[in-house]
Amino acid sequence: DATKDIPTAYIEEEDIPGGDGRRWEQERMKTATFRAGAKDRIKDDYSDELLLDEQIDFIQTSLMPGADEAPKEPPISAAQKKKMTIDETRKSLPVFAFREEFIQAVKDHQVLIIEGETGSGKTTQLPQYLYEAGFCADKKRIGCTQPRRVAAMSVASRVAEEVGTKLGAVVGYSIRFEDCTSERTAIKYMTDGMLLREFMNEPDLASYSVMMIDEAHERTLHTDILFGLVKDIARFRPDLKLLISSATLDADKFSKFFDNAPIFRIPGRRFPVDIYYTKAPETDYVDAAVISILQIHMTQPLPGDILVFLTGQEEIENIQEALNERIKFLGSRIKELIVLPIYANLPSDMQVKIFEPTPPTARKVVLATNIAETSVTIDGITYVIDPGFVKQNSYDARSGIEQLNVVPIAKAAANQRAGRAGRTGPGKCFRLYTAWCYKHELEDQPTPEIQRTNLGNVVLLLLSIGINDLVHFDFLDPPPKETLIAALEHLYALGALNHKGELTTLGRKMAEFPTDPAMSKMILASDEYGCSEEIITIAAMLSVNASIFYRPKAMAVHADAARKGFWSPVGDHLTLLNVFNRWKETNFSTQWCMESFVQHRTMKRARDIREQLEALLERVEIEAKSTTDTEAIRKAIAAGYFYNLAKLDKGSFKTVKHRHTTQIHPNSSLFEDPPRWVMYYELVMTTKEFMREVIDVDPRWLSKIAPHYYKSNELEDATTKKTARKAGKSAAELQGK
Ligand code: CDP
Ligand code: MG
Repeated sequence: DATKDIPTAYIEEEDIPGGDGRRWEQERMKTATFRAGAKDRIKDDYSDELLLDEQIDFIQTSLMPGADEAPKEPPISAAQKKKMTIDETRKSLPVFAFREEFIQAVKDHQVLIIEGETGSGKTTQLPQYLYEAGFCADKKRIGCTQPRRVAAMSVASRVAEEVGTKLGAVVGYSIRFEDCTSERTAIKYMTDGMLLREFMNEPDLASYSVMMIDEAHERTLHTDILFGLVKDIARFRPDLKLLISSATLDADKFSKFFDNAPIFRIPGRRFPVDIYYTKAPETDYVDAAVISILQIHMTQPLPGDILVFLTGQEEIENIQEALNERIKFLGSRIKELIVLPIYANLPSDMQVKIFEPTPPTARKVVLATNIAETSVTIDGITYVIDPGFVKQNSYDARSGIEQLNVVPIAKAAANQRAGRAGRTGPGKCFRLYTAWCYKHELEDQPTPEIQRTNLGNVVLLLLSIGINDLVHFDFLDPPPKETLIAALEHLYALGALNHKGELTTLGRKMAEFPTDPAMSKMILASDEYGCSEEIITIAAMLSVNASIFYRPKAMAVHADAARKGFWSPVGDHLTLLNVFNRWKETNFSTQWCMESFVQHRTMKRARDIREQLEALLERVEIEAKSTTDTEAIRKAIAAGYFYNLAKLDKGSFKTVKHRHTTQIHPNSSLFEDPPRWVMYYELVMTTKEFMREVIDVDPRWLSKIAPHYYKSNELEDATTKKTARKAGKSAAELQGK
């Protein structure tokens, strides 16, 4: 049964466990190859003819389930909304009618499950209602978790505006490496990962009077862990109010988990949405999406904006480019089409744009990741294009390999997406797959993240807050046992646990860092090697969520030359260090970044992250020490990443532990002339599997750094570095080109 093998859960885009840049990059790489073919085709077609005649054949087969009763109230158009005052807008939301009832329900019950259609006002209004009703007496706060960083920020900024305060004052947010709150903050939006970390300092959440676990249906790893923790706390803090809010129909499951907590249902306004499927399967959804956008734009009446669900930033940027070129080419032959992207790393000034109303003579097309599925609501959407894919992480506990793959969505997600077309009036959803495929190939529900991800991070966190019996932790859905065991084994090898499975002093310090265990270990080990300054720079550069170099097509040669100027002969981590240090020498100049083809925004983020890591070093009492000895730096890296050792063997690299074949990424400074032993930061999957960010290591270091982990025969032939090259093979051959 082939369909059985298709994993279907949907990821949350940006803030996957710990929200580290690693996976983000992985995702970028993946998308790059995924759509490569399509882009070439779009360009070719574009250059010879218009594509105006090119059409996707859709057939309408159904209405969206449950959407046939049209609501009584007339829709509020985006233009009308523009004219409304903030107060009127607030009152126009479906939750408003239930304000008093809701406040009373919170007073009457400790735990409340809230179910309401996306866009009904749960996230922005409910915390405000409670604030207005006096739930913030005695300087207590109302907390609200979001699975995504972007959602936490954008919602907080919206609510600050509604309350009429500066962001960070009464209303604030907290995300990894960024705290925008103050003493006065009464309503605090935060990522689920941040709340999890707060348990370390405040195990009873004493500063909160209300905690809302929002977007519960997303079932991210952190949210799932929070369920167990807050349920436990509620027992000994009867004054703490808990709200579990969800957009979809999991309410009964949540209610059961929280000892049959009452469900507060907010009826949504939902207009009918016609569903269209393609007649035949589309081989290339990126191509098909571009055609469909133009097709809708040219055949459907105004007003009515388009929302397209894509899998990642790179894909979005490519479609944006392709569309803009065609729009330019078509000129005045078509009405104005405004193309706007929304994805996790989009700078916040750009995010604001998608919320601006569309001029009546134009149409807006929003190219979004699944962030627009439920976390972010854009008004005025009438048409949804759903290619049916999402990027999702997977983890193989046996090999330790983590991947982000593009996979088909679940039916539940497909229906969420379609529902976005019917918020302000009747809409249409164009699915770029067949009705047969929907019926037979899509799973009903996504798999919760906890069942398909590496648990190293949360296991360390749980142990550090005193939860030692992980097997009997109160999970809504338990993770696979092998994954738990693999996490414990990894932590043991890193020295975070002793042989009894208890947290060591090192482990306790590691938990202080909001980074993956391997990175935390690397940072702590830097003390011993006298290179804490260099290591936190490297850690910060690895943690940024975007690429460091840019490469405009017209200047590719210059950009490549500039990048090579930073190269270190011993590996990419040192290259990153070079970039940062040279930028620092220019006193963090923007001009220098431009001249060096380095992304200024990314560098600023690296600097912010570095500052925070610096503060954390102080907290664990590690002195700032600096060295120019690249061997010491590489040893500190190896102390954290010794798992990721690979050896050149008969022309290709194999991981030492699992004999997994892989290669150095062509962007690496070690690609041309590979050493025999390397240690990588991560594996990325594109056309092939590559090791990204690699350093040259001496296996003899490992017998000291990880004596329990490697057997001496696994580390042998330490003295024969670069023998493969001596045998007369070129670098290209060795890389299997
Ligand atoms: O949480 P739920 O999906 O129920 O709704 P919400 O996020 O509270 O959104 C309520 C309304 O606020 C929607 O009409 C959004 O368009 C609007 N909103 C906004 O204008 N700007 C934001 N940053 C967030 C929400
Ligand atoms: Mg919401």
